[in-house]
Amino acid sequence: MTLTGKRILLIIGGGIAAYKALDLIRRLRERGASVRPVLTAAGKQFVTPLSVASLAGMPVHEDLFSLTEEEEMGHIELSRAADLVVVAPATADLMAKAAHGLANDLASTLLLATDKKVLMAPAMNVRMWLHPATARNVAQLQADGVLFAGPADGEMACGEFGPGRMVEPLDIVAAIEKAVAGSTTIPLTGYGPLAGRKIVITSGPTHEPIDPVRYIANRSSGKQGHAIAQAAARAGAQVVLISGPVSIADPAGVQTRHVETARDMLAAVEASLPADIFIGTAAVADWRVENAGSQKMKKSLSGGPVLQFAENPDILAHVAGQAVQRPKLVVGFAAETQNVIAYAQDKLARKKCDLIIANDVSPETGVMGGSKNEVHLVSKSGVESWPLLDKEEVARRLVATLADLLKKGGAA
Ligand code: PMT
Repeated sequence: MTLTGKRILLIIGGGIAAYKALDLIRRLRERGASVRPVLTAAGKQFVTPLSVASLAGMPVHEDLFSLTEEEEMGHIELSRAADLVVVAPATADLMAKAAHGLANDLASTLLLATDKKVLMAPAMNVRMWLHPATARNVAQLQADGVLFAGPADGEMACGEFGPGRMVEPLDIVAAIEKAVAGSTTIPLTGYGPLAGRKIVITSGPTHEPIDPVRYIANRSSGKQGHAIAQAAARAGAQVVLISGPVSIADPAGVQTRHVETARDMLAAVEASLPADIFIGTAAVADWRVENAGSQKMKKSLSGGPVLQFAENPDILAHVAGQAVQRPKLVVGFAAETQNVIAYAQDKLARKKCDLIIANDVSPETGVMGGSKNEVHLVSKSGVESWPLLDKEEVARRLVATLADLLKKGGAA
């Protein structure tokens, strides 16, 4: 029995997936673990204390201020007398409390007081899961060392479709087995339409030095590329994000490599291949300063410095032209200020991509650096235009499109 003698403190949050916690208890006990259950007030709306206690063979803890429960075992002791704390279902509310260190009921107090590893199996509506507040909380919890199993992608009890379903009890058991064996690398993802796929994404600008203190850059913020990385991770992919200098946070559940110049970015991309999909979202500088100064250039130079430019390598064309390890899908972006579709079609052919995402970056669109984007998907089979959307929604739709294309075997 894989979990013989292991003590699991199971916090059952309030969500329709709470019924799966009953099966989880059964599966854990079958494997030799003991399960001490904690039921939140919301959890009690979905499963009864009696059914939880019957399956666990232990009393259910519900109340922070219960004298009887405190007499049996104080809440601090309860939080520590376990090998692992599991939260299933982990609701948006429980995750938010844990991320912010709130302790206003038994479950949140235990999560704050425990000195043991915590594993969460999130379950919530797709919009709640994709909300930036939840993304921030997940990132914070991950930074605090919390492990995640799921969520899965699929149809929800509310009729919507997407990531947010709690993973199946046996998947949680597998994650628990890994966690008690000492693994710290249970991925947030691993479920969903891109499970088992690897995606390499570039994002942000590149900085090309003029001298040790000055550089040439552009207005890319990394928001679009980072959102794609986040959406791909949530769809189950293993994601490597190669980011130029940006001031936004690394996405949760994504391996992020930070680079500065186009040549650094190319080297990081090459080191990250092979992959199933490559997405070039970065605004890579086409040129670098060939005669960059090794010392700070002095103002006294008569007439100012004369910069000579050399062409940077084209990362997208390089990846698409790989003979051996060409990703199944190579996706580029086209940032244009005029003739958006025609120039994108030219890039599609010239750089030998499967798909180009064209966007108008004229200053009045606010696309570069802003939070919204209006894109056109340009492929050999035609042009599909999407309305103006939040960059997160563009990312989610793009990831769904790419997952479909991969399922169909590749090219757009
Ligand atoms: O970062 P944000 O503020 O969210 O803004 C998003 C964005 C506008 C930067 C993004 O949506 C976008 O359009 N990215 C591509 C920017 C760009 O450099 O476009 P381009 O048309 O110059 O290049 C075409 C493609 O070739 C791009 O995929 C680019 O990554 C790639 N390229 C370009 C030059 C080069 N040396 N190497 C490359 O790989």
